[in-house]
Amino acid sequence: MTEYVQLSTTQRVMTVTLSRPEKKNAITQDMYGVMAQAIRDYQDNDDVRALVITGTGDFFTSGNDLQDFAKGPSGDGLPPVVQFLQAISTCVKPVIGAVNGPGIGVGLTMLLHCDLVFAAESATLSAPFVSLGLVPEAASSLLLPEAVGQAVANDIFMTGRALTAQEAMDFGLVSRVFDDAGFADAVAEIALGVANSAPIAMQRTKSLVRHRGEAIATQMQKESVLFAEQLASPEFAESVAAKMQKRAAVFN
Ligand code: COA
Repeated sequence: MTEYVQLSTTQRVMTVTLSRPEKKNAITQDMYGVMAQAIRDYQDNDDVRALVITGTGDFFTSGNDLQDFAKGPSGDGLPPVVQFLQAISTCVKPVIGAVNGPGIGVGLTMLLHCDLVFAAESATLSAPFVSLGLVPEAASSLLLPEAVGQAVANDIFMTGRALTAQEAMDFGLVSRVFDDAGFADAVAEIALGVANSAPIAMQRTKSLVRHRGEAIATQMQKESVLFAEQLASPEFAESVAAKMQKRAAVFN
């Protein structure tokens, strides 16, 4: 259990809150483990009917904790990040992404597995994998081009461009933008409505809209092979060293 992920359930709504504001809610393997278990518990509990993922402080999440990732996975079995991606991408019940501030890397890609995505006005979304010496994950190399078109997806992946909340809405990654002050209340009200709605019709609607589990799993598998190779590469080592030394990365 890590204190960096807070779990709460009220009125049939479970909320998973990334709570590591001093590191901009960067996600460690331990945090992924807690998030994966929370999603599995949500799926198994008929009394809970909506799941919200959000962050504390001024960030949604700055993505994978780069130092933690550089160490590589510890222990046997599926790495926690893979468990999280499997849990969120196969969850049969509604998942709501509440993007309270900037989302980087998995802060964008996890949203492709959420059924409803709302953003605060100050939120931005980016996925600068290439500049980190990495490749896209979470089946985002399949789902992002489908969502926003190949040119915009490549602009996000290859230039590291950050979308404003409004742009993310214009591109269809987000369905509604709320002002920062009213964001949490607005999301809570919508989540309550989802939780009080007909649960079987809700799940069936999700299964009709999301029916490509096999293609998503296959793409994640392809990505994970290349992602692991890049994690062990000099390109990633240089990008992490550059970030720690607060300088631009140099790829020779
Ligand atoms: N992994 C590990 N630590 C991170 C992190 C990440 N993804 N993102 C931020 N942090 C840490 C910083 O190292 C810093 O730690 P320190 O106070 O011990 O030095 C702290 O969080 C605050 O970040 P800082 O860079 O001082 O804040 P900022 O407002 O100037 O910039 C970011 C915030 C998120 C733009 C910047 O930290 C950043 O670019 N982080 C890396 C994002 C990234 O590449 N994510 C991976 C996607 S796969």
